[in-house]
Amino acid sequence: MDREAFQERFGLIGDSAALKQVIDKVIQVADTDITILLQGESGVGKDVTAKAIHNVSHRKHNELVIVNCGAIPEGIIESELFGHEKGSFTGAHETREGYFEKANGGTIFLDEIGDMPANVQVKLLRVLETGEYFRVGSSKVRTTDVRVIAATNKDLWELVQEDSFREDLYYRLDTVKVKLPPLRERPDDIIPIFRKFVTEFSAEYDSVFKGFSDDAKELLQSYRWPGNVRELRNVAEQLVVLEKSQFVDTEKLKKYLKGRQHTGEADNLPVLAEQKSSSNGAFGDDDQQLIYRALVGLRNDIGDLKEMLANFLYSTISQKNIKALPQNIQDEVNETEMSSMDIDVGDADENIGVQSYTEADISKETEENEFSSFFNSGDIPSIEKTEQFLIEQALNKYEGNRRKASEALGISERTLYRKLDQYGLQ
Ligand SMILES: Nc1ncnc2c1ncn2[C@@H]1O[C@H](COP(=O)(O)OP(=O)(O)OP(=O)(O)O)[C@@H](O)[C@H]1O
Ligand SMILES: [Mg+2]
Repeated sequence: MDREAFQERFGLIGDSAALKQVIDKVIQVADTDITILLQGESGVGKDVTAKAIHNVSHRKHNELVIVNCGAIPEGIIESELFGHEKGSFTGAHETREGYFEKANGGTIFLDEIGDMPANVQVKLLRVLETGEYFRVGSSKVRTTDVRVIAATNKDLWELVQEDSFREDLYYRLDTVKVKLPPLRERPDDIIPIFRKFVTEFSAEYDSVFKGFSDDAKELLQSYRWPGNVRELRNVAEQLVVLEKSQFVDTEKLKKYLKGRQHTGEADNLPVLAEQKSSSNGAFGDDDQQLIYRALVGLRNDIGDLKEMLANFLYSTISQKNIKALPQNIQDEVNETEMSSMDIDVGDADENIGVQSYTEADISKETEENEFSSFFNSGDIPSIEKTEQFLIEQALNKYEGNRRKASEALGISERTLYRKLDQYGLQ
């Protein structure tokens, strides 16, 4: 298959040398069984590329199983990947096949591979090298014939240096590395990709997009796109819906570009003009922006908190104790369970949610007691108190390791630092 046909078939737009190089490499290795590591920032196209590779390979008539390693709680990832035997742990009511079994003859896409817990990394290395694995609770060696595509937005080598990723697994995965360049390194692709999205959204919303001024076009190309193609897609959708039949100039465009425009971290907030207040007491644009910022901040805090609570309860306390929680919190936890299953799981065991493993039993019990006494006192703890409690629990559990604690809480490390500062915690 040549490059143009490949791009056409999978909707991969772009004519830049950087993208062409990537596609040529992908085409070269797609129809082999070689392990591929896709590396690139969020939103650069790792998912589309993995699916394209499977669909041009000789395995295309068998399953492509997509596993988001970062979304599955650490305690159950081994049984998700390799399956388990009935009765192998609390809640294992049925024998269940794992993703490696399900993908037999096909492809497994291990997304966010950098989040794989250390004990599972060893097992992954074995299945990659020999095709052999064990179901949890079984001593029978099983084999599978699976092509592995892994993806990460982290620097895996850095994780090796920090001892959180095995060096041998790194070398095994790194056989063919495909680096997907961020959008800012291929500015020539921005307008063509944007055009494709605008055409699609205009048809979907039955809307007309008038076009850009020259400097707005330049801004589109010089903006750093921290969310890459996904962000470009969102901006295109918003412009089609909210600015329909309007000519878009720089001022209008800026409202939709949320990250900062130069180097530095994206803060996901609109760029603020000078914060002057309207002098006549009327409600001005600046006031509106300030209120909007405050609301976004508030919404983020509430979102963080909901996620933290649900993630934590889901991965640490037993089903019995979850049932003792107020209904709205139970719903939130169940939603977390659903989202961690939001991969192709087939007939997932409905009770797989919470399990206790022998190695972690003792510390889990202590955690459960602390959780029970915190939540079952009869009073509803305040949001702030709950948040502080969860942060402390996470830091205790991971012995002060903030990266691991923030991962367990389902928030970014940056948010964790902000909260520690806010509550004066060490
Ligand atoms: N070259 C491209 N042309 C057109 N659309 C693209 C291109 N690359 C990516 N996309 C689109 O951008 C969006 C994000 O891509 P994708 O989900 O594959 O990114 P990702 O790297 O997997 O992101 P994440 O790290 O957040 O999982 C998708 O809608 C995808 O179809
Ligand atoms: Mg992805």
